[in-house]
Amino acid sequence: MKTYKVALVPGDGIGKEVVPAGRQVLEALAAADNTFRFDFEHFDWGGDYYRLHGAMMPADGLEMLKSKDAILFGSAGDPHIPDHITLWGLRLKICQGLDQYANVRPTRILPGIDAPLKRCRPEDLDWVIVRENTEGEYSGAGGRVHQGLPIEVATDLSVMTRAGVERIQRFGFKLAQSRQRKLLTLITKSNAQRHAMVMWDEVAAEVAKDFPDVKWDKELVDAATVRMVNRPASLDTIVATNLHADILSDLAAALAGSIGIGPTANINPERQFPSMFEPIHGSAFDIMGKGLANPVGTFWSAVMMLEHLGEPDAARRLMQAIEHVTANTRLHTRDLGGAATTVEVTSAVCAEVAVTARSPLATA
Ligand code: IPM
Ligand code: MG
Repeated sequence: MKTYKVALVPGDGIGKEVVPAGRQVLEALAAADNTFRFDFEHFDWGGDYYRLHGAMMPADGLEMLKSKDAILFGSAGDPHIPDHITLWGLRLKICQGLDQYANVRPTRILPGIDAPLKRCRPEDLDWVIVRENTEGEYSGAGGRVHQGLPIEVATDLSVMTRAGVERIQRFGFKLAQSRQRKLLTLITKSNAQRHAMVMWDEVAAEVAKDFPDVKWDKELVDAATVRMVNRPASLDTIVATNLHADILSDLAAALAGSIGIGPTANINPERQFPSMFEPIHGSAFDIMGKGLANPVGTFWSAVMMLEHLGEPDAARRLMQAIEHVTANTRLHTRDLGGAATTVEVTSAVCAEVAVTARSPLATA
């Protein structure tokens, strides 16, 4: 039997509720499947760890993760610690340190979900946002000079390397090619940003030559928000820089019904390091500890983890189970307008996973 070593990093806020829920569902799936198992290791990194040790994770934390097959992450953020410390001390440190340069964010309107766009049918919104995840506006380059004085200067430098741009765009084109519509939209802002974004466009034109069967176009990031709302069916695979995709993926999640549902994969495509899977919702302090968090974003992220680990059947069964559960509005959490709890949704998905286990019906 195959064993997958998975690091669990719940982090902060509702991460501490949804990651254990994700573990439970993965265990139910493995028990029903009986061809693979998980060897989970829990890491208590995040805000509480910071209060005790003055760092979000230990100095050799990345080394501890390197021996894993995958990482299931919750969220980073604490009301009493500045956001840039929690982010750079944990999530970005892992993404950059393990060179997880492809951040992949699928968005669909799942069954039973009441999405806000009036004229958008579920089949009109089926996107995957591919976000550059290691450089660009999140490079971390920049600094503050004359700090605290009236002449203070502060810079955040967006750094784009040709290699970094090319590898994310190649990843995006490959992904687009694997999807039915073979359609890619490159998000840019080369009308206003005349250096890096111009190179970004040029590299895309070069990479596109290797994918003659992929139809592609360019959209300015501001215009892309309008297109997502007015013509959602004209989009499929969307490739964007770190910050642009950050913003567009929140809009995408809202248009699909709730930010509580959206998954993310932080992928190191070369598999030199483990990849990391996480819901996009963040730590949500307003509801933490109340059992109200929607675990669906974590479950869908677990589906992406199973695909990455090479368990496509299990991934499909888990996705089916999730969709059966979202189809039942009595099992909607508060973000979806319902009253179900994290525990109720988790138990329902575990029960679904058990009935669809490797029975001939399940694959029919
Ligand atoms: C996301 C989040 C993070 C980001 C935050 C928590 C810094 O918004 O994963 O989209 O901006 O990358
Ligand atoms: Mg975001």
